[in-house]
Amino acid sequence: MDTNEILKQLNDFTEDALKRLQNITTEAELNNWRLSTLGKRSPVQDVFSQLAQAAPQDRPLLGKGANQARKQLEAELEIKAAEIASAELNRRLGEEKLDVTLPGRKPVSGHLHPATQNMNDILAMLSEIGFETYRSPEVETDENNFELLNIPAYHPARDMWDTFYTTEPGVLLRTHTSPGQIHAMRQFAPNPVRVALPGMCFRYEQVSARSEIQFNQIELLAIGKNITFGDLKGTLQEFAKRLFGNEVRTRFRPSYFPFTEPSAEMDVECFLCGGKGCPMCKNAGWLEILGCGMVHPTVLENGGYDPREFTGYAAGMGPERITILRHAIDDIRYFWSNDIRFLEQF
Ligand code: DAH
Repeated sequence: MDTNEILKQLNDFTEDALKRLQNITTEAELNNWRLSTLGKRSPVQDVFSQLAQAAPQDRPLLGKGANQARKQLEAELEIKAAEIASAELNRRLGEEKLDVTLPGRKPVSGHLHPATQNMNDILAMLSEIGFETYRSPEVETDENNFELLNIPAYHPARDMWDTFYTTEPGVLLRTHTSPGQIHAMRQFAPNPVRVALPGMCFRYEQVSARSEIQFNQIELLAIGKNITFGDLKGTLQEFAKRLFGNEVRTRFRPSYFPFTEPSAEMDVECFLCGGKGCPMCKNAGWLEILGCGMVHPTVLENGGYDPREFTGYAAGMGPERITILRHAIDDIRYFWSNDIRFLEQF
C-alpha cells in the first residue's frame, strides 16, 4: 500500500473513532474504545510497527501522521474520561442523599478502671457525711505501718500483715491504709479530724478468689472530744444504707485489732438471700464488710492527741471486696489481671 493510501485510511479510522467516542457514556465502554483505538492491535500502532519496513523517504510522513492521530485520540480520550467521572459523581450525589437524622458514630473512648470508679463512688458518699479525702504514701516506714499503730516487732499480729520490703531497712509497702491515721493526726493535732484515707495496699500472701497481693482500702478516722462508740455505729450504719440501700440491716461483732479498743467487725445482711443463707454468704445470712473500733489511747498519743481529752473511732474496708459482693463477681483477681473483657463491663 502506498503512503498516501495508509495515511488516508488512518485518517478515516481516526474520524470514525472520534465519532464513536461521542456516544460513549460509561467507563467500561471507554476502556474498550481505548483498547481498539490506541492499544497494541490498533491501526495507529500498526503504522508505527511497520515504519521500519517502509521506504526511507516515506518514513517521516508516516511517522508524523501516526503521531498526530495518536495525540488527537489521546486528548479526546482524556476529555471524555473527565466527563464520565464528573457525570458519575453527579449521579451519586443525586442518589445518595445525606441523612442528617441518622445517629452519628461514637468514637471509642476508654473509662476509669472499675476499682477507681468504685473508690470514687464510696469517697463521694463519705464526703456527704463529712469525711474529707486524705491521701498518704503507699511506701511506708515500719514505724508508721506497725510500731505507731501499737504493733511492735514482737507482736503476733504482725503475722496477719506480711508485706514486701524495700532494700532500704525499715521501708516497706504498706499493708493497710491505717498508717494514714498517723499522718493525718500529726498534721491536724490538736484539732479535730474527720478523714477518709483511700489507696493501694500490699500483702505478701497466697492469692485466692478472695485475696490478692494488692488491693485498695478505704480507712475512716474521726477524732475529737466526746466521740463515742455510738457515733461509730451511727455513722457506719448510715454509710451502709447509702452503699446497699435504706433497708439494709447491719450488725457489729466484737473483734480484735491492735490499734483499736474496743474493736468490732461490721456485717451487712446478705442482700442476695435477705439473710436466709445462700452460697454468697456461705449460709451465714451476713456479709462482713469492714473492721472498726475506738482509736487505742496509745495510737492517739502517737498521733499527738492527749487520750484523756480526745477520743475517736476508725474503720477500714476493702472496696474491691465490697464490689465483688455488690456485683456477685466470683473472683477478686479479675481487678488486676487486666482482662479487657472484665474491665469493659463496668
Ligand atoms: N487495718 C485493718 C486491716 O487492714 C483494717 C482496720 C480494722 C482498720 C479496724 C481500722 C480499724 O481503722 O479500726 O485489716
